[in-house]
Amino acid sequence: MKFNYTLGAALVAALLATACGKKEEVAATPAPAPAAAPAPAKTSVEVLHYWTSGGEAASAAELKKMLEAKGHEWKDFAVAGGGGDNAMTVLKSRAVSGNPPTAAQVKGPAIQEWASEGMLASIDSVAQAEKWDELLPKVVADVMKANGSYVAAPVNVHRVNWMWANPEVLKTAGVTGMPKTWDEFFVAADKIKKSGNVALAHGGQNWQDFTVFESVVLGVGGAEFYDKALVKLDPAAIASPTMTKALNTFRKLKGYTDAASTGRDWNMTTAMVIGGKAGFQFMGDWAKGEFTAAGQKPGEGFLCAAAPGTANAYTFNVDSFIMFKLKDEGAQKAQADLASAILSTEFQEVFNQNKGSIPVRLGHDMSKFDDCAKLSATDFVASAQSGGLVPSIAHGMAVDPAKAGAIQDAVTQFWNDDKLSVADAQKRIAQAATN
Ligand code: BGC
Repeated sequence: MKFNYTLGAALVAALLATACGKKEEVAATPAPAPAAAPAPAKTSVEVLHYWTSGGEAASAAELKKMLEAKGHEWKDFAVAGGGGDNAMTVLKSRAVSGNPPTAAQVKGPAIQEWASEGMLASIDSVAQAEKWDELLPKVVADVMKANGSYVAAPVNVHRVNWMWANPEVLKTAGVTGMPKTWDEFFVAADKIKKSGNVALAHGGQNWQDFTVFESVVLGVGGAEFYDKALVKLDPAAIASPTMTKALNTFRKLKGYTDAASTGRDWNMTTAMVIGGKAGFQFMGDWAKGEFTAAGQKPGEGFLCAAAPGTANAYTFNVDSFIMFKLKDEGAQKAQADLASAILSTEFQEVFNQNKGSIPVRLGHDMSKFDDCAKLSATDFVASAQSGGLVPSIAHGMAVDPAKAGAIQDAVTQFWNDDKLSVADAQKRIAQAATN
């Protein structure tokens, strides 16, 4: 990521203080109270994000509300497109033209890339005052720092290796219980197909293909294999029979999707499960935000379980905001307020209940969260202890964006081209991983 960046043009416009132009009144007795000081100018805080679905928009609204409560003006910079690829393209072009927003939703190793361009403001003063090192899991804190300084503020922990289901669709098909292995999954999927419903709701977009793929790799190979193949990008793991098996399983899933899958947005895909048209979906728990926004509850309107074979593992995906270096003092104050508020218990509670994720603060009281979130919180801690906690490659947490993008392309080509052999796909993934 290289920018021709000139900071000079990069300032977010501060709103002008508008002192009311009231005319002086003629002094009478008793003397009028001195005129109230003009209200301080509100700083307009431009926040780039890609939270545009129902559940996501409800979460973004909480962020806005919280910032406004601190006296700032929210300038929405939403770029639609699940997974954020579109948003990142727009962000780069804004930065290249020397006009970055105040804050942007950026995560994983991309944070360090932005920092290495010298574009990010340190938020150490807030982080130190509020003891972030003690509040955050180390695995999260490390991602938020560049050269030892905090340059991003985390909002949540999403789990990616989830399987969602519609209990009515399962019941109609005679499926009892959520499948725990891939073999069980295919037995259940056959039954659903036979009953006339779509077994697997899938949106054929590259990042959604990749999301399903990483859960299959995790389920087939386990966390240690996932770590070797998709985090360390070990060529032997990518060329191994375990990867062959994962690719065969992944390909088999396609036979359970519907013909209109290509290009469908993830939330429209979740809507198929919500509406009883499809049995299952593999998607991170932002999908739960959609079920919740539709008024459904886990165990009633929908079911959640770890994707087959992944109950003891956890692919994490932490959303965070980077702050750009800006000269305007109002903007700097707003950035500090944003960083501080994001980590507050109150915000973590309400934001994550809407978003489907869990709070990023250690030891947060989960009593008001639903059962899927409680399971996520328990599994996060358990998998961290057992070695099953791994970063999501499909959601920008595991490897640098260029490599992740290249591997994603190889996976998506394999998904879309039934003639591409598994052996060739393995070679393409290996090549993408070494470039
Ligand atoms: C982000 C989520 C978002 C999802 C769909 C993920 O990569 O982490 O916050 O809801 O993409 O856009």
